[in-house]
Parts: sequence; C-alpha cells; structure tokens
Amino acid sequence: VCCVEKHGCDSIAQFAGVQSRRQPSGSAPRIYLPFILLLLMFTPSVDSSWWYIGALGARVICDNIPGLVNKQRQLCQRHPDLMQSIGEGAKEWIRECQHQFRHHRWNCSTLERDHTVFGRVMLRSSREAAFVYAISSAGVVYAITRACSQGELKICRCDTNRRGRTSDEEGDFDWGGCSDNINYGIKFAKAFVDARERMVKDARALMNLHNNRCGRMAVKRFMKTECKCHGVSGSCALRTCWLAMSDFRRTGDYLRKKYNTAVEVTMNQDGSGFMVADRDYKRTTKNDLVYTENSPDYCLMDRLAGSLGTAGRVCNKSSRGMDGCEVMCCGRGYDTTRVNRVSKCECKFKWCCAVECRDCEETVDVHTCKPHKKPDWLDLT
Ligand SMILES: *[C@@H]1O[C@H](CO)[C@@H](O)[C@H](O)[C@H]1NC(C)=O
Ligand SMILES: *[C@@H]1O[C@H](CO)[C@@H](O)[C@H](O)[C@H]1NC(C)=O
Repeated sequence: VCCVEKHGCDSIAQFAGVQSRRQPSGSAPRIYLPFILLLLMFTPSVDSSWWYIGALGARVICDNIPGLVNKQRQLCQRHPDLMQSIGEGAKEWIRECQHQFRHHRWNCSTLERDHTVFGRVMLRSSREAAFVYAISSAGVVYAITRACSQGELKICRCDTNRRGRTSDEEGDFDWGGCSDNINYGIKFAKAFVDARERMVKDARALMNLHNNRCGRMAVKRFMKTECKCHGVSGSCALRTCWLAMSDFRRTGDYLRKKYNTAVEVTMNQDGSGFMVADRDYKRTTKNDLVYTENSPDYCLMDRLAGSLGTAGRVCNKSSRGMDGCEVMCCGRGYDTTRVNRVSKCECKFKWCCAVECRDCEETVDVHTCKPHKKPDWLDLT
C-alpha cells in the first residue's frame, strides 16, 4: 500500500576473507595490505552508515563517512550544522533502542569503531532491522525538529504558520510561541535517510523505505499542544499555545509495540509493493513495521550472522518473560554470583526540604547466562 516510491538499497556483500580472525601480532604479511584496502574500497558498504555520524561526534567530515550515497554526501556538505544534530540524535535513538530491548536476547548493542554500527545483524531483513530503521529515521526527525526550534540551524526555525485564534476543549486560545517545525524535520529526514534506498529497487529497499516512513510518522503522532496562561494571578483568561513534540520515549514505546506486531511481507511480482505473507491478514500495513525474513534466535555467538549470543547476560530468575533466565539463556542454564551493593535506605524527610538517607549494604544474587558448551573457536568460519 505504501512505499511505491522509487528507492534503492545496498547489495549484500560478503566480506569474504576479511573476517575478524586475529593474526598473531607482527606476522601480518605487508603485501596483503594494499590488497585488503582495495577490497575494502570496492566492497559496497553493507549498512546505512549515516548511523555512524553519531559515533563521529563533532568530527563529522562528509568525505570520511563510509557508505554515504552521493545525495547524502551533498546534503552533508551543504548542511554541516544539521549533521551535527543528526549525530547527537543518533546517540539518543541508539540509547532508546537499547532501553527498549534491554531485556531481550538481541539488545541493540553497537560495535565500537565499526562503521556499520550494529554489525552484520542488520544484513538480515528481520524484525530487528525493521525496528532499527524506523527508530533511526524517527530519531533524525526528532533531532532536526528540536534543533530548528532551538535556533541552532540556519535553514529552519519554529513553525510560524500557525497564527490566529482557535479553540480546544478548554476554550479559546491564540497560537503563539514556538511551534515545533515537525514538517521540516520530516522533509529533511526523508531526503537524507531515504536517499540510499531510493537508488535501488529490491525487497530490502522497499522494506527500509516503509519502515523509515513509519518512524517519521511515529514522531508526528505524539505532537501535543502546550499552553501558557496569561491573566490575573494565574487565571487562564488568555492562553497562548504552540505545538510541541513529546518526549522521545513515547516514540520509542510506540515503535516497540509496532515491533511486537510487525508484519511479514513478500515483494509482489512487479516489485512495486508488498503482499502480506499471511493471507488471512486483512488490515493494511500502512502503519505497521514490515519485515521479510525471520529472525535468528540470537542464542549463540555467530559472527557471520552478527549475533553476540547471550552468554554472560544478566537474567531474572523469577521472570517468565524475555528477561527470564529460561528464555534469555536459551535453556543453557545460568551461573549465580553474590554481590554486595550499596543502596540508599532508611530515608527520612528533614524539614525543610531535604531527604536524608543512609548507605546500606545488601547482598544480592546476580544470575548470568552460561556460555554454550561448544568451544568458541568452532564458530570461527
Ligand atoms: C548486550 O548484550 C551483550 C552480550 O550479548 C553485552 O555484551 C552488552 O553489554 C549488552 N549491551 C547492553 C547495552 O545491555
Ligand atoms: C524479576 O521479575 C519479576 C517478575 O516479573 C519482577 O517482579 C522483578 O521486579 C524482576 N526483578 C528485577 C531485578 O528486574
């Protein structure tokens, strides 16, 4: 239904031979180096590397971000201040993703100094990829819209299109103040984030475009009116209101629910859109996240699939959910360690206005998943 835009996507290139097998130091033959560099240069980068802008911080140099397509590079060069916002935003949506998945086997962890950011997990067109594309694109909308309002950007300001008098359930009010310019945020996010996918037409590109759009719309969904009262001693005889974005957590929670109900689809014959895999599914997928491949179970460390496994993950012995030891450890069992923790206790309210606590030491059991019995080196392929 949606996503009939033109689009494009990365081909899934295999980093054959450049796996992370460690060489004993000093023994790497020098003559391989130019070869490896060449290979890296001609290996299409495997992921939406604009994500990497977050890791670069203030050092965003458009030519040095691997995997930006031309359109993105141009936008990057033209709007360095926006890139700054996108970078700060990236830290925020990655944190939100990790919050939403903290009790899951796949926990949205990132790889340090790796320009794919999430590693090979994102090569699979799974639910998890659907979520990451959606929240990353939502994150760009959020970051840019906020920066516009704060006057940090040359190209945009508050939305001044709202003028005049109108009313809500509490009565009349005047538009005023600084309304968040969500439409600008959405416009830029669409141009920048979707640029790569608009170049190729395949199932993955369609999927990404769809989920990117869902992410952008998720932010807009939680716009709210904020008002200020003017009047004698706080009476609300006169009100000025503006539109503001809600906390990004709302978007995160919403997309997390959408992750739970994500819909499996297949590309239709002419490649113009999706068909829902389950024929009994009657609703439109317009506001759903979509994916085309099942997820791995993320139980074991699997370098090729980019799965870190759950060995060493903390689990909750009394929970029956995803964070329960049974599920988290995939039935391998868990180890228990006693640790001492210092926490605040015996807090008393002191007039006025402070709370005084004592530091108490408590002993708690921490459960962590056992590793798989097969030794790790067998996984090295
Ligand atoms: C996610 O899980 C991995 C192991 O599977 C662990 O090393 C990492 O600390 C976890 N990250 C977060 C943010 O919880
Ligand atoms: C463990 O799970 C139980 C049941 O779901 C919950 O009540 C408890 O707060 C959880 N403990 C921790 C440390 O998260």
